[in-house]
Amino acid sequence: MSAKFLQEGVRITMTPGRDSGKFLLARARDLSSWLSSIRRHLHAHPEPAFQEVETSRFIASILDELGISYRDNVAQTGIIAEVGNPEAKDVVCLRADMDALHIQERTGLDFSSQRPGFMHACGHDGHVAMLLGCARLLKETGVFKGRVRLLFQPAEEGQGGAKEMIEAGCLEGCRYIFGGHIDTHFPVGKIAVQEGLICAFADGLKIAVLGRGGHAARPHEAADAITAACNLVVGLQSAINKRINPQYPALVSIGEIKAGTAPNAIADKAILKGTMRTTSPEIRQALFQVVESCAKATELAFGVKVDISYPDHYPPVINSPEATKIARQAALELVGDDGVIPYPIPSLGGEDFSFYLEKVPGCFVRFGARKDGNDAPAHSSGFDFDEEVLPLGAAFLANCALRALK
Ligand code: NI
Repeated sequence: MSAKFLQEGVRITMTPGRDSGKFLLARARDLSSWLSSIRRHLHAHPEPAFQEVETSRFIASILDELGISYRDNVAQTGIIAEVGNPEAKDVVCLRADMDALHIQERTGLDFSSQRPGFMHACGHDGHVAMLLGCARLLKETGVFKGRVRLLFQPAEEGQGGAKEMIEAGCLEGCRYIFGGHIDTHFPVGKIAVQEGLICAFADGLKIAVLGRGGHAARPHEAADAITAACNLVVGLQSAINKRINPQYPALVSIGEIKAGTAPNAIADKAILKGTMRTTSPEIRQALFQVVESCAKATELAFGVKVDISYPDHYPPVINSPEATKIARQAALELVGDDGVIPYPIPSLGGEDFSFYLEKVPGCFVRFGARKDGNDAPAHSSGFDFDEEVLPLGAAFLANCALRALK
């Protein structure tokens, strides 16, 4: 493959082989401040699942500037853009998620969230910047075979925006799909590439503990939903330890409890919301059973009724062998042997990229992005990452697409 780059009016000829990655990365690094400005704008204006209206408009405005055609209002607030030869049959998809979380930011960054109660605390602002950077690199790349389809996907955090993107036809003609996630467990310059299962089964969990209200001083006349709920949460953690083979991961995290209206009244209801993570179908079924038996035990012990539902499910992310090979080569060209690291122990994170992988082969990687002096985890109010990862991610995605279309 031979491709040309337009760099501020200067044409650069890219030679095939290992050099192509180096050229992409060099050009992406030239775009560093542009990439950071995109990320920072998005960071300051976070929007949650299926409400990414301004985000979508902002992405569209950049695609307009780049002269890249796109379809908006896909899957409500998503965008599908295409670069390359519109007649070509071969399509490779690249995906970035767009949504923010319901978290109040406390980073103290000068581009902190301007929307109280919302924050890009998972790096999706960075993912969008990377994919726009990749779009620009591909647009500047004179010649390549096929088409690269850029998926700006809403609602990754829990509502499965990927499913709606698929229903909207985003995978039509797609041979491979690639994507990645910022990961602050590793420094910039590391890209974790691993074949097979890399993310967990993720099942939403909602538990309603239904008791009977009463006077705080006479609990025997009531059925205390709060005490029952607290016991259920703690009991679950112990039961999982003893009922599930500890050689396999199985976790339940309750992230939300709502109960009670007055300090001197017994609550008649407690609503618990959480998530369950496993990495095998058998353990997943076993975990459902543990949750249900703990619920029954709580009913008996506290005289309450416990209703359980599983509001959403993400399948595990399973990287295909051939796409993983392409991704590994693409990464090797950018970060060398030392930079490409394995990811042998699956993350228990959920990731709706899995829905795409149920339909087409692909590979999802993790981009090292640890920021010195910041150990706040993802999904916390202090989360931040090293923006040096942005050009690397942009070049990686572009390189995956070019290699896959070879
Ligand atoms: Ni995320």
